[in-house]
Amino acid sequence: MPIKMIVGLQYGDEGKGRAVHYEAKDADIVIRATGGSNAGHTVVANGKKYAMHLLPSAIIRPEVLSMIGPGVVADLKILVDEIEQMRKAGVKVEKDNFVISERTHITFPHHRQLDRLYEMLKSEKVGTTGRGVGTTYEEKARRTNLRMHDLFIGTSELKEKIKENLKVYNVLVSEANKLIEDGIYNEEKFPAITVDEEYNYCMEYKEKLQEFITDTHVIIDNAIEDNKLIIIEGAQSFWLDNDHGDYPMTTSSNPNASGTASGAGIGPTLIDEVIGVIKAYTSRVGNGPFITEQKNEIGDSIREWGHEYGTTTGRPRRTGWLDLVMIKHTKNTSGLTALCVNHLDTIGKFDSINVCIGYKYKGKIIKHVPIDKENCEPVYETLKAGWNTEGATTFEELPKEAQEYINFIEKYTGVFVKYIGVGADEKRTIIK
Ligand code: IMP
Ligand code: MG
Repeated sequence: MPIKMIVGLQYGDEGKGRAVHYEAKDADIVIRATGGSNAGHTVVANGKKYAMHLLPSAIIRPEVLSMIGPGVVADLKILVDEIEQMRKAGVKVEKDNFVISERTHITFPHHRQLDRLYEMLKSEKVGTTGRGVGTTYEEKARRTNLRMHDLFIGTSELKEKIKENLKVYNVLVSEANKLIEDGIYNEEKFPAITVDEEYNYCMEYKEKLQEFITDTHVIIDNAIEDNKLIIIEGAQSFWLDNDHGDYPMTTSSNPNASGTASGAGIGPTLIDEVIGVIKAYTSRVGNGPFITEQKNEIGDSIREWGHEYGTTTGRPRRTGWLDLVMIKHTKNTSGLTALCVNHLDTIGKFDSINVCIGYKYKGKIIKHVPIDKENCEPVYETLKAGWNTEGATTFEELPKEAQEYINFIEKYTGVFVKYIGVGADEKRTIIK
């Protein structure tokens, strides 16, 4: 049985949940591999809308084992709240359909405060989601952070680890608070956080999470031996990747395909399919370069028609035309085998559309993405649009211009389009 991966190729929010949900139909295991509660996945299925941050989107399929892998960082409170919300909505979240790796790092209350502190100090703000994700990864890299496994060590050992991890936080906030007192920054002061507060946070949520925490390595090993179908679910996206994306306007993990494989704990030679998800246009939350951005009526229309407001922060998303140069760039870096193109219905509302096929850069036209992306200007090809995808259930039933747009994307990128999204409900998926 194959192992498949679904990753985003733009700036997040491409609708990875659609491809995951579809692929998960026959899957045994779905693994969420990177990121934390900065992610926001919306899945519309069975006539209901589900918004998730940490749970794999396959959780709505009770027959699949949903797994949070070692590469994820998890805010215990957000995770518990999400489990309770899903249960209220009638979704099964029990230990036979949900597990968390004991290696998954814990996001603590002080990580959010640090996220706010770093953004306060930065002259050029990243525009993070403020969920303390980057600062959890930072403490992981500093090798002081705690993992799910630590919830089970003895009281004194746990308190000792928390104390060690909090040292840097408390030094930083006392300095930061002085700057606020001196009126240099106009921000709410940062609270001192005690060992007991974070110990209590661990104990409160341990009770609700302990049944799910396990050695996922053993489960994956057995599943591979037994030829099970495994889906690896990416979060965020290629251009937010801290190594390959728009550094420093990136997220703190590696949501590219290799980082996603690592976060799940499955080696590259075992992965048979990498499905990259894009929108038929581009959107971005947070700051950073955006070559095809439309800060005008076109962008406003995309935002309204495509409901482009952040799932996690509610922020209006920046919007613009599809940039095929940046998609093509991800082809080999991600080892793409197929694409999923979402919002084909949305973009068809325009009479004609632009698609970026090159950049004007230092007096030349280039077809790759240079490191100083902000110095590029888009070169567009204009295509006829004005299509209506209602009622179409196959590629052949799509209006001719809509088919041509998909063919254009395939030809430019050299990657086959497997899925096409023509509506929010996952049923409105065309398989090519
Ligand atoms: P952080 O991941 O909260 O540190 O935010 C870093 C950058 O990544 C910001 O521009 C965020 O808006 C962006 N970002 C993080 N997670 C997501 C996501 O799931 N979708 C879209 N953008 C995201
Ligand atoms: Mg999202």
